[in-house]
Amino acid sequence: MDHFIYRDSTLHAEDVPVRDIAAAVGTPFYLYSTATLQRHYQVFDQALAGMDHLICYAMKANSNLAVLRVMADMGAGMDVVSVGEYLRARAVGVPGEKIVFSGVGKTAEEMRVALSGGIRQFNVESEPEMQVLNAVASSLGKVAPITIRVNPDVDAKTHAKIATGKSENKFGIPITKARAVYAQAAALAGLEVVGIDVHIGSQLTELAPYEHAFTKVAELTQQLRADGHDIRRLDLGGGLGIPYSRSNITPPLPLEYGEVIRRTVGHLGCEIEIEPGRLIAGNAGLLVTKVIYVKEGEGRNFLILDAAMNDLIRPAMYDAHHDIIPIEEPAPGSTLSPFDIVGPVCESGDTFARQRDLPTVESGDLIAFRSAGAYGAVMASEYNSRPMIPEVLVSHDQFAVVRPRPTYEEMLNRDKLPEWMAQ
Ligand code: LLP
Repeated sequence: MDHFIYRDSTLHAEDVPVRDIAAAVGTPFYLYSTATLQRHYQVFDQALAGMDHLICYAMKANSNLAVLRVMADMGAGMDVVSVGEYLRARAVGVPGEKIVFSGVGKTAEEMRVALSGGIRQFNVESEPEMQVLNAVASSLGKVAPITIRVNPDVDAKTHAKIATGKSENKFGIPITKARAVYAQAAALAGLEVVGIDVHIGSQLTELAPYEHAFTKVAELTQQLRADGHDIRRLDLGGGLGIPYSRSNITPPLPLEYGEVIRRTVGHLGCEIEIEPGRLIAGNAGLLVTKVIYVKEGEGRNFLILDAAMNDLIRPAMYDAHHDIIPIEEPAPGSTLSPFDIVGPVCESGDTFARQRDLPTVESGDLIAFRSAGAYGAVMASEYNSRPMIPEVLVSHDQFAVVRPRPTYEEMLNRDKLPEWMAQ
């Protein structure tokens, strides 16, 4: 459920008409709803009720400081994958003890910053990383709390580019090697084993892969405890999918996912951590854009928008579907016709949707991509020298630009001519 609804025939974000924001900010822009972000956090919190747990929002999905602040105010921890993300978490007041550091390629410098600033745990992904972390912690006179990310060799049944839990993926250590690697970790004075980490992929639309993976983690917990390790935390990763299309398959609910967690690992007495990103932010955001031209092609018509693949890469990168809706509600029963919906960038990959049915649209009309709050703005670029688009946050009847659109001057001034070209 989200808070983007038609009221008086025009789309509102909470209590604000989207067209008013478009008039004030200009298009295209990302638009987020505070109430929706909060609701998604609460749904996970309720799903894990009765179990000691921490929801570590995976900020890679949307790391705007205002969004992070909404999460921090709800009591969320954060899952970070770089020093940049770590500093964002700290900037909105999240204490180190609520931040988990994930990622397959943490550098010694990143480890140093997080260890010095305070960290809940590092989710270690390889033996070489373990050695480097041990060295960094020892040099700082600290002990780094760690989990080891195990790769359970489970098919997450999602898009190949976002599946992570099969043995051919670069993530984690094979679960079959886990006992040996935990033994190595326990022998390193700079590390303290606190638990196990697993994350099998993103946009999962079935529960069975979780059930499979978490059952393996439960078995491993018992084995590692028998080996003498104090396994007290289980980080179960993120990945629960969201409905991108009203007419498409409906992913499981967080409550059902919570039941799988309870059933598979609930009896172990571990603190449960999860790292949801997409489900928190995805349907809490729209990309609002304007039709520049309606172009009649041969056998098909094109809607050319002022948003492009550089603003929202998901359709080009993952063949992702986003529902596209007009800001002004079409009259009931209005005729639909198919359009190819494209951006102005100079490549055919800049296509958001093919032969998508929409009501009559004209140049100047506003439309919105739904489910654009996660992996939208964070994956944007300035390709074709198109400035990054602004981000706007709504709360009840208020809205604020939470990242302004840069001016062309600012964009150009980021480049520097070498001295030998001066004058
Ligand atoms: N934890 C770890 C270790 C992850 O790698 C990820 C996502 C998450 C948590 C959060 O997963 P979520 O709950 O958001 O599914 N750019 C792609 C998605 C990449 C996901 C990468 N890892 C997309 O637009 O679909």
